[in-house]
Amino acid sequence: MAKNKNNQAIWGTRIKKNSSNLFKKIGNSIDIDKRLYKEDILGSIAHVEMLFKQKIISFKVKNKIIYGLNKIIKEIVNNKFEFEKKYEDIHMNIEKRLFKIIGEDAGYVHTARSRNDQVITDFKIWIKTASKEIEINIDKVIKSSIKLAEKNIDTIMPGFTHLKNAQAISFGHYLMSYVEMFYRDKKRFKNNLDNLEENPLGVAALAGTSFNIDRNYTTKKLGFKRPTNNSIDTVSDRDFVLDFLYAVSVCSMHISRIAEELIIWNSEGFNLIKLSDKVVTGSSIMPQKKNPDLLEYLRGKTGNTYGNLFSMLTILKGLPLSYFKDLQDDKEIVFKSNDTLINCLKIFDEVLKNCTPNKKRMLELANTGYMTATDLADYLVKNCSMSFRKAYEKTAAVVNLAEKRKKKLNELTINELRKIEPGLNEDVLKVFDLNNSINSKKSYGGTSFDNIKKMIMKYKKND
Ligand code: ARG
Repeated sequence: MAKNKNNQAIWGTRIKKNSSNLFKKIGNSIDIDKRLYKEDILGSIAHVEMLFKQKIISFKVKNKIIYGLNKIIKEIVNNKFEFEKKYEDIHMNIEKRLFKIIGEDAGYVHTARSRNDQVITDFKIWIKTASKEIEINIDKVIKSSIKLAEKNIDTIMPGFTHLKNAQAISFGHYLMSYVEMFYRDKKRFKNNLDNLEENPLGVAALAGTSFNIDRNYTTKKLGFKRPTNNSIDTVSDRDFVLDFLYAVSVCSMHISRIAEELIIWNSEGFNLIKLSDKVVTGSSIMPQKKNPDLLEYLRGKTGNTYGNLFSMLTILKGLPLSYFKDLQDDKEIVFKSNDTLINCLKIFDEVLKNCTPNKKRMLELANTGYMTATDLADYLVKNCSMSFRKAYEKTAAVVNLAEKRKKKLNELTINELRKIEPGLNEDVLKVFDLNNSINSKKSYGGTSFDNIKKMIMKYKKND
């Protein structure tokens, strides 16, 4: 009997006819979910150890199954395993192979479990590991950002709002703003761990099981913190998938925002940064071109990660409890998002290592657009006892005057300034110096050179 059965689906006794060819073609997921092989085998080993401990299977059967599973893992690692589409997914492929290796005793492995709890157990373990891998790659980007920031603490550049010159800032401070984003990304992946720590194994198809299983045992064995509480919710729940896809989306959104900015700064119009030849490409017709293709790749890929998040949200919308085939697509979606983000983080790290500020141009641009106007208003509040609104008006008049005379603010004379505010002391002129302007922003989190140094030190200590 075993002989005949080996070549057919597990449900061959009940479903007598073969699936239609079209269904055979589209109904399997092995090409995608084979990535779960390690987690699947670990899950099965923990499961049979528990079954033995609970006296549900014998010592001999447990050992045979574990022997077979260990052999399978070796076969897969050494590319000796034949994944077969006709067995649908990774779980059935492994079970079928187990039958071939150890014979009928393989039939005990699926006692008190279903693929419904099996697949999410595998998937939660996989996502936990993937999140850690993403964190390692985020750390590399953080390190490169800090390194570049440290070299550019006193590199002055224009800070923009609405892409218009606003106030002078340090390029180092700017780079440290990326670090904040990436730390939040890491936290987002960490925050997801709490849901990922709940063990689904043992809820079986949707109702639990009549076998006297010990879910706390498999929880411990598989590195979870506690078993899930409700069998129906467990097999239906893909919130942990959404959390992961959202965290990936936000991280890639950060990369995309920065990429867009660097693309703008790399344009001839701005010319604030230079990208080394390692991270640009040429044009097939215009010999002079050096295009920031990699940055454009990063900007664009966010569209894919958002798309994946929305695919999953849409699959789940209105889906009744508990398991449906609709859910099977979760793996492809997550794998794609994961791979895209890992790629983007690696590329972004490479870009950071190949990006240098054009300090001369940054300073030149920072000297245009009356960027010390707010400094003058602050001075007036502090030294001429007037409200900020009044000082704002006076400063606007000073800017109008400078514009009319085609001068920069620091080119105005004290007499010209006194036309607008007669009581002015000559020391007012120092507010127009960009170094002074930056250094005056000492409030916590501000751009003063000292603040940046301290912040960089703080992050390097935490490292
Ligand atoms: N490959 C399936 C999936 O990922 C495993 C669960 C199958 N369960 C079922 N009742 N058909 O969703």
